[in-house]
Amino acid sequence: MKTIFQEDLKLDSSDDLLAIAVSEEGPNSLPKNLNEAFGGHLTTSIGEDDFKGKAGSSLSLRITGQIGAKWLLLVGAGDLSANSYRKAAGAVGSFARRHGLSSVQFDLGGNSKANTVEHLRAVAEGLEEGNYRFDKYQLEQKKKSPITEITLVTDKPDGFAQGSAHARGQKLARDLVNETPEIATPKFLADTAKGLESDQLKVRVWDSKKLKSEGMNGVDAVGRGSANPPFFVHMTWTPKCKPTGKVAIVGKGVTFDAGGLSIKPSAGMLTMKSDMGGAAVVLGTMSSLSQSDVSVVVEGIFAAAENMLGGEAYKLGDILTMSNGKTVEIHNTDAEGRLLLADSLVYADKLGCDAIVDFATLTGAQVVALGEKYTAFYSDDDSLAEAWSSNAENAGEGLWRMPLESEYKSLLKGDWSTLKNVGGRAAGSITAALFLSEFVEESTWAHLDIAGPSFISKPRGHVPKGGTGAMVRTTLRWLESI
Ligand code: BES
Ligand code: MN
Ligand code: ZN
Repeated sequence: MKTIFQEDLKLDSSDDLLAIAVSEEGPNSLPKNLNEAFGGHLTTSIGEDDFKGKAGSSLSLRITGQIGAKWLLLVGAGDLSANSYRKAAGAVGSFARRHGLSSVQFDLGGNSKANTVEHLRAVAEGLEEGNYRFDKYQLEQKKKSPITEITLVTDKPDGFAQGSAHARGQKLARDLVNETPEIATPKFLADTAKGLESDQLKVRVWDSKKLKSEGMNGVDAVGRGSANPPFFVHMTWTPKCKPTGKVAIVGKGVTFDAGGLSIKPSAGMLTMKSDMGGAAVVLGTMSSLSQSDVSVVVEGIFAAAENMLGGEAYKLGDILTMSNGKTVEIHNTDAEGRLLLADSLVYADKLGCDAIVDFATLTGAQVVALGEKYTAFYSDDDSLAEAWSSNAENAGEGLWRMPLESEYKSLLKGDWSTLKNVGGRAAGSITAALFLSEFVEESTWAHLDIAGPSFISKPRGHVPKGGTGAMVRTTLRWLESI
């Protein structure tokens, strides 16, 4: 998306779309010359509509000569906060893609309150988020053009580039989640990591033989029922400045979750290409670090595997010895994510990080509890929790802290092993988090269950259904804040 910044609105410019941000004052906040171009009737005709400038709402008009553009779109910027502008920009991106409008002039409104760095970041993020479609498998004639050139009417462009960088990371995550599982195999994710390699980003990949010899029996067990073998990936990003710390981000990379021998019913299996959403957050985040303002070393870690039912598949009753020596009895092969994360967390814990944060499409229970908007956040560390809450708020993403209730740990006690891999129906997202906590000893740790938010079943505002890249923007903001 080519970006041009311009201080004044140009009504005669022949863009496909002219978009105008309108506050809750509604039509009264329209630029005067725009209203005049319509003989003063624009405010009158809008007045008849129920468009009131609510954030993300919009009103479109097909133009017949009054201005240079083909379409006019008034978008609500609500209370003029940065989060409202993200929704407004999202509506612009979404409308443009729906109609295949590739050149856009977007007037953010003369209000200087709405021209801060945070606003420009939000605008860049919203535009990309709304303009996104996963259409690579659609016939050419069905595809609609994305925005290729955007002219922003504002006197302060600062922040837009940073927002765009975060949006690109989010887009990579969405593309990976949406990709067909026939293509997006464990090897594909490992190759994607390799593809990010640069002076600042080093990538190590372990194949199934190596990870088994390193004692990652959780990853091995989950992966060995498939013809597509598992991989373990460790990326290290180093800032150009002297690092001020070191953190690890860890993801669940199940590229398809059939459930294993505890096979899922068809309906539940349909969307299980999205079970690598956690690894996608890691890859999306790592891909944007060099364009972001991060001064800590970031270790990006994930295990990738397909949870299938082949002849070598792991079984119910198997007792696995994990890489930290704890044993786990398998009561359900569909609770696979925690096994592969366990080994990944043990690995991360040995790197001596100030904090480890993991992302996983871990439980259906998370979806039941919080739905598709709110990520379930778990940590014993209050200041880490507060940092994540405020960064999520600023990134415009839903995050809700859940209790890491240690009383429930007894639900995971094994009869013949340290642990069993399921804790029963009650508090399923919490017991999954508690299971993971058994594999981090040294570092401050947080776990994010993104089962609902990472892949949505119906559009939410300007976000189309499918992969969302949820938590990439929040993660990048958190990394920038350290
Ligand atoms: N990948 C699923 C969780 C999931 C469900 C993600 C729906 C996205 C949408 C996970 O591996 C799983 O199957 N979890 C089981 C755990 C249970 C067997 C303890 C679940 O939630 O049913
Ligand atoms: Mn599963
Ligand atoms: Zn899974």
